[in-house]
Amino acid sequence: MTNYPKTSALMARGREFLGTDYAILCGAMSWVSERNLVSAISNGGGFGVIACGAMTPDLLDAEIAATRALTDKPFGVNLITMHPQLFDLIGVCEKHGVSHVVLAGGIPPKGSVEAIKAFGAKVIVFAPTLALAKKLLRSGADALVIEGSEAGGHIGPVATSVLAQEFLPELASEFVVFVAGGIGTGDMIAAYLEMGASGVQLGTRFACAQESIAHPDFKKAFFRAKARDAETSVQVDPRLPVIPVRALKNKGTEEFTAKQREVAKLLDAGEVDMLEAQLQIEHFWAGALRRAVIDGDVESGSLMAGQSVGLLKEEEPVADIITQLMEQSEAALTRR
Ligand SMILES: Cc1cc2nc3c(=O)[nH]c(=O)nc-3n(C[C@H](O)[C@H](O)[C@H](O)COP(=O)(O)O)c2cc1C
Repeated sequence: MTNYPKTSALMARGREFLGTDYAILCGAMSWVSERNLVSAISNGGGFGVIACGAMTPDLLDAEIAATRALTDKPFGVNLITMHPQLFDLIGVCEKHGVSHVVLAGGIPPKGSVEAIKAFGAKVIVFAPTLALAKKLLRSGADALVIEGSEAGGHIGPVATSVLAQEFLPELASEFVVFVAGGIGTGDMIAAYLEMGASGVQLGTRFACAQESIAHPDFKKAFFRAKARDAETSVQVDPRLPVIPVRALKNKGTEEFTAKQREVAKLLDAGEVDMLEAQLQIEHFWAGALRRAVIDGDVESGSLMAGQSVGLLKEEEPVADIITQLMEQSEAALTRR
């Protein structure tokens, strides 16, 4: 890309891997990352990813087809590893010849990476530890996303800056690694590229773009929020090691704490087993996020947001956001 020579050079491997002009992924966001936002990202030169979330295979089938109708650029599909129909969803991706599948939410179950690679798609994984990252990459995964605790949605305990220092020197020369969590400007993109990242993944920064179907009240809550308002949910019971969720604090975050207590009680009484208990908690968030994103229930819905939410001021078209990020990165690298 002649417009941004320094940034493009550092993104070369990521751009080639994704088949895009820019190695900027818009991380899948349940309910938000559907046909409109995903196609806008890909049409803008980035890489959109459909959030399958709790969708049925039929719904995913329709969403992929609808996205294809809006863009002829590459995009990916994000599947949650604990989805009970994971292999059917992989089958839907195969039917559509999806080029990239992201496996999120846990360690990929046996056979899933192989099933995706069997139809020629590339597999992108997450890994919370360096040892697991190496194992996944050496056993077939094609790329890795490291995501720090600044991010919106389900998060791990370690900050992006620390993960980058730990993972990139070990992996970046050999593997494609994307950095996610807390990235809101091109200055930050430039820094991670210089550390060896092949590209970056942003979620919060794109959640309230003009093309995002998120409810106007959801967007307003984001524009009003400061970084410190995007809080991590509290784990109530040591037997229920739920992954913390970063979201704007509201009545919904308190309700989630109550829900965990309720499920813990059911566990005590032997009325549910561990798997059922964890699914109930996961389902609570799935419903709550939909209420916030689609219905605009900013009181009791889940306003999943990363700390970069404080940098958002107004609705902007996706193309403008991408241009701004690339210009900022290029300016930062030029100043060096
Ligand atoms: C509203 C929202 C929903 C999200 N849903 C998902 C999801 O369904 N699957 C997933 O892998 N990541 C999900 N994420 C994480 C994003 O894909 C992305 O990695 C993250 O937002 C990057 O960090 P940032 O928010 O600091 O930019 C979600 C994030 C947000 C803000």
